[in-house]
Amino acid sequence: MQRRLAAITGIQGYIPDYVLTNAELEKMVDTNDEWITARTGIKERHIMKEPGKATSDMGKIMVEGLLQKTGTHPDEVELVICCTVTGDMVFPDTANIICDKVGIKNAFAFDIRAACSGFLFGLTTGSKFIEAGTHRKVIVIGVDMMSSIIDYTDRATCIIFGDGGGAVMLEPAEDGYGIIDSVFHGDGSGAKYLHMKAGGSLKPPSIETVTNREHFVYQEGKAVFKSAINGMVDTIRDVMSRNHLSKSEIQWLVPHQANIRIIDGVADMLEFDKSKVMVNIQKFGNTTSGTLPLCLWEWEPRLKKGDNIILTAFGGGFTWGSTYLKWAY
Ligand code: UT7
Repeated sequence: MQRRLAAITGIQGYIPDYVLTNAELEKMVDTNDEWITARTGIKERHIMKEPGKATSDMGKIMVEGLLQKTGTHPDEVELVICCTVTGDMVFPDTANIICDKVGIKNAFAFDIRAACSGFLFGLTTGSKFIEAGTHRKVIVIGVDMMSSIIDYTDRATCIIFGDGGGAVMLEPAEDGYGIIDSVFHGDGSGAKYLHMKAGGSLKPPSIETVTNREHFVYQEGKAVFKSAINGMVDTIRDVMSRNHLSKSEIQWLVPHQANIRIIDGVADMLEFDKSKVMVNIQKFGNTTSGTLPLCLWEWEPRLKKGDNIILTAFGGGFTWGSTYLKWAY
């Protein structure tokens, strides 16, 4: 008997209107367009500027669009997973807040905080509820409002990150289509290279933590850079070999958008045709949990039923991995 699989049956992205350009960043910190473009590939990122708006407001727009696109009534949704490191509050989970804002009343909902690998981990977690046969409509959201945790006086991080993301609907798939396999890893010893120093139980917020600017992303870029390339390449190779996939059989590689040099490094090491690699980092920067759904959303009109797609990510934790799916529509 064939294994029951879950497939993505719709996708809806969202990015806020405000565009933060390299020229504007030049006025904020000691940097320049040439450095940012050459070292990261980023030209613009979108920022949520509306006062009082949070991650759940972006999630709400994505989910409303997704429900409309897939012809789904909110009452039909059984599970909502929100992948984010910038939830509205430390608790409750933002997935619950999104459900309330959208009017989803029959679902249970929770967040996944796996940083840049969040959407991948969420996609596989959500698909398991469908594979088990207990759920038929699962929404997975990958969204971050990185501007809420970025220090706009730190030139090493403020040039990289942006806000936005996307939501997908998962449903039982026709035979052979859907989310087929994932290879995931974690290594907590990498936490020292990419984290937020305060605001958790280790260092609760205090006047001192605010004064010391410890409620922002801290990153040792070089250490993350090297691990990111190796982690993505290794797991892509693993998932390809486990599923007897050759390069020519893969239509699209969807890498986390952290740095164009990382994306190129991965493609070069695998000798992967760059025309098959999704890249939109120049427009959106690194939206953490949002990058992969933003790519799929943008490329959706070009995807064909049966396309073999590999998604790959590396991020804070460290967390990393690759997922193989066969596009279902
Ligand atoms: O998504 C989660 C996972 N994260 C990642 O995958 C990010 C991985 N890391 C990176 O993408 C890169 O390491 C960065 C983009 C963060 C930094 O690029 P880099 O090529 O590793 O630069 P660096 O940190 O080694 O800095 C090189 C130089 C330094 O100057 P000195 O010491 O050589 O004089 C920095 O101070 O560039 C300087 N620099 C800048 N100069 C102009 C750092 N940031 C800037 C800037 N503008 N914004």
